[in-house]
Amino acid sequence: MTIDAIVTGHLCIDLIPPMDNVPVSGLSKPGHMFEVGPLGLATGGCVSNVGQDLYRLGVDVRLMGVVGDDPLGGLIIDLLNRRDPSLTQYIRVQPGQSSSYTVVLAPERKDRIFLHYAGQNATFDCSHVDFGLMRDARIMHMGYPPIMPGVTDNDGAELAALFERSKAAGIVASLDMTLPDPGGPSGRVNWRRVLERSLPHVDVFVPSIAEILFMLRRADFDAWRDDILAHLTRDYLVALADEMIGMGVVIAGFKLGEMGMFLRGAGPERFDRLARLNLDRDAWAGSAVWQPAFQANVVNTLGAGDAAYAGLIAALLQGSGPDEAARWANAVGACNVEAPDATSGVRSRAETQARLDASWPHRPERLRGV
Ligand SMILES: Nc1ncnc2c1ncn2[C@@H]1O[C@H](COP(=O)(O)OP(=O)(O)OP(=O)(O)O)[C@@H](O)[C@H]1O
Ligand SMILES: [Mg+2]
Repeated sequence: MTIDAIVTGHLCIDLIPPMDNVPVSGLSKPGHMFEVGPLGLATGGCVSNVGQDLYRLGVDVRLMGVVGDDPLGGLIIDLLNRRDPSLTQYIRVQPGQSSSYTVVLAPERKDRIFLHYAGQNATFDCSHVDFGLMRDARIMHMGYPPIMPGVTDNDGAELAALFERSKAAGIVASLDMTLPDPGGPSGRVNWRRVLERSLPHVDVFVPSIAEILFMLRRADFDAWRDDILAHLTRDYLVALADEMIGMGVVIAGFKLGEMGMFLRGAGPERFDRLARLNLDRDAWAGSAVWQPAFQANVVNTLGAGDAAYAGLIAALLQGSGPDEAARWANAVGACNVEAPDATSGVRSRAETQARLDASWPHRPERLRGV
């Protein structure tokens, strides 16, 4: 294998004007000019976040996404190139098209308002993915279908094809989600059907708990939505993970925010599909582990889910068992929340390991029934 990881799917740029001095009420008054500071610019989306987090962790990673040939597309590629030109080799530039961006408005540092343009992420499909490269890489990670209608239309036909073709190349395939918008098109997708079609070809599926409740336990999501963590028990998570494994996954789990991470392994024969990871099959098969989150000085949780996923992938590439993999996911997630942006809190593998070795205290939240 020449490459460790490929990250594909959603890629955009965040435009963040510093506007601490702008009153929230001012935004509803047309005709007023507010002076703000220099524009903050950061690439975003799963491809940028998980890709850069893996890079910081020392994983040899390539990014596969699609941008337009407008100035914003050039900026996305330029910003990633500054980290390392190898990252952008497989990013496609679509002639005559506009790139995806998010304007982040945070007046008085209050709750943020996002203006999101889907751009090329709306048309992303298998034609933007280099399946040939997957023959030479160990693991691929894809996110986020709920904001990529090109892969979820027709009950997720394109998403299923993407994972089927990835597995045909022999790579280990991983999937992450975002929370569908209950009032928008992503909220009307038949997610159970989408998952039934794709998960037979997905090896690692660790969405956040809110996302999977929305998709597979809608009544519980509606009843618990403001306080999901308080309702969870170990038995509940085992049953939900088993349903995902029943649909075809090898390693199923949940990002639990301040409650850490839960991981479950399928039966031993399924682990043939993870041959490129050299995992300890006895440790993983049938496992069900919960690991609490680490104490962190929370500045901003933006990108925590992607950081945790990068930690999980880095651990899988090292051949870690389930407890160690969950600890790594929590460690990288905790590092992430200590910085204001989506990726810069993530540290090198050695620094992260040093924190783990220094008896890092856990958060107090506990999963009932453990
Ligand atoms: N306040 C926190 N303190 C410590 N660790 C945290 C905190 N919030 C999140 N984490 C870590 O980050 C991981 C991922 O966070 P979370 O479960 O919120 O993912 P997500 O819902 O996918 O987030 P995102 O909004 O980034 O998509 C958690 O499993 C946990 O390990
Ligand atoms: Mg997430």
